[in-house]
Amino acid sequence: MTAPNPKVGALALKEGHIVGRGFHEAFGGPHAEEAALIDAGAWDEAKDCPLPGVVDEIVVTLEPCSSEGGEKQRQPCVQLLLDAGVTRLLVGAVDPDLRHQSAGLKLFAESGVEVVQVEGGQEMFEELNPAFLQALSHDARPWVLLKWAASLDGKTATDSGESQWLSSEDSREEVHQLRSLPGAILVGYGTLVHDNPALSARPSGVPAINQPLRVFLLPDGQIPSTATAWNVPGKRLWVLAEGQKPCSALAEREGEEDQVFFVPTLPDGKLSLEPLFAYLRQGRGIRRLLVEGGPKTQASCLQEGLADALVRYEAPLLIGGHMGSILGGGVDHPRFGIRLLCEERKAFGEDLRRAFLLQRPGFHSIPE
Ligand SMILES: NC(=O)c1ccc[n+]([C@@H]2O[C@H](COP(=O)([O-])OP(=O)(O)OC[C@H]3O[C@@H](n4cnc5c(N)ncnc54)[C@H](OP(=O)(O)O)[C@@H]3O)[C@@H](O)[C@H]2O)c1
Repeated sequence: MTAPNPKVGALALKEGHIVGRGFHEAFGGPHAEEAALIDAGAWDEAKDCPLPGVVDEIVVTLEPCSSEGGEKQRQPCVQLLLDAGVTRLLVGAVDPDLRHQSAGLKLFAESGVEVVQVEGGQEMFEELNPAFLQALSHDARPWVLLKWAASLDGKTATDSGESQWLSSEDSREEVHQLRSLPGAILVGYGTLVHDNPALSARPSGVPAINQPLRVFLLPDGQIPSTATAWNVPGKRLWVLAEGQKPCSALAEREGEEDQVFFVPTLPDGKLSLEPLFAYLRQGRGIRRLLVEGGPKTQASCLQEGLADALVRYEAPLLIGGHMGSILGGGVDHPRFGIRLLCEERKAFGEDLRRAFLLQRPGFHSIPE
């Protein structure tokens, strides 16, 4: 849940005794240091800032952050810890991100805070954080998480196009939480038409404060007027082929809430996703993209080598037919398939949720 951010844990101490513990729970949520201060009671709830004097030392697995801006909604942790009156910092790893490396530690040292790096902390942190390191290896596009619900026989819809609902209510609740993390959601035209999703984040049935940017592949520029996503307020990006004209309704609405982005088409006529993903990262500052299908869009992400991880909700159901999870692309031999790593499993009602890191970002990469 933290990717593309790292998994980080922290302890807050006073006079050598642990008074608070925290960890970074989800992308966009409080960092471990802030969570430890809150747990220690070193937080002024009314003013939403640290309470000085409750904590004097912090132990943290990663160098505290010092940068501001982007999608970050909280103050840099260095400032929070200085405001809390921390005088000693025990740190596991320096930030492997070259843009931030040692910047936080330098600020502490300049403010007279004693900084100690724990031996072996760097290796331990890196071993625990393959997803974070993978995200650092490319900054031209967002961290891309593919998500689908499937029957036990791997189908994401019936042959007539029905997929609501394959997964349990508990699984769908987690999907709303995934959507409410900052970033964007992408779906293909088939899903817009067949499933008619709102694509808004409604954890526990309540609309989230920060709604994701909803991105739709619109190969022929036409939006069905009954599309729920078209009628539920919020920001949308409609992706059209270069040279294609938006339908008149879209042309009329284009503005703050609805924007159009043109991409070239690939030799097979599909919209090219690479320039879209580059625009989301560089033009919109989006660091995390959730791809919610359908199977052709998932295939395109893999075929263009643009995926980092996948999460699959598997229902104890057999539906048969041909609507597999990835329609298109594919490899000639299983040895060229993409190996999935670091499985995380969780039961959701009757469903099994499995999450994986991709060993490489798609079918296009050279097989090992
Ligand atoms: N179980 C789940 O989690 C889940 C999630 C979402 C959807 N679904 C099911 O999936 C079905 C819809 O699937 P779909 O096959 O229509 O797939 P889709 O991925 O939703 O949409 C594909 C459509 O977008 C077009 N397109 C243009 N550029 C594309 C690109 N780069 N990559 C992919 N598509 C591109 C395709 O054109 P061409 O056809 O001309 O290639 C096609 O019209 C529905 O029945 C829905 O219920 C299930």
